[in-house]
Amino acid sequence: MAFVVTESCIQCKYTDCVNVCPMACFYEGPNFLAIDQSQCIDCAMCVTECPVKAILHESELQPDQRHFIELNHTLATRSGWKRITRPTSPLPEHEKWAAVANKLALLQTSWKPD
Ligand code: SF4
Ligand code: F3S
Repeated sequence: MAFVVTESCIQCKYTDCVNVCPMACFYEGPNFLAIDQSQCIDCAMCVTECPVKAILHESELQPDQRHFIELNHTLATRSGWKRITRPTSPLPEHEKWAAVANKLALLQTSWKPD
């Protein structure tokens, strides 16, 4: 069991979470971060850092959020995303997107244009 990043991160990407992770679990995509669960030690330090409460423990996920387990794994380990260990600026329209609920269709899995 481990923690995963969920939908609220999409289009916001605040990156406060990476600042506290002792295991450097986070991998960066264009508009989302993913946790490599194989590295996560369940310390929960990242949870309270996220301004939009995007990070949840696997055991807390609602049935319609459970696909984020596999999504985090795939994006962190098989998508060419790079490890991120220092925070960066949030995405330009983060304040607007923080209030939007259904953003999964906007998730960009590649740094290259689709
Ligand atoms: Fe890193 Fe701890 Fe968050 Fe896991 S729970 S991603 S080890 S800060
Ligand atoms: Fe995303 Fe929250 Fe981290 S918005 S980048 S999970 S601080």
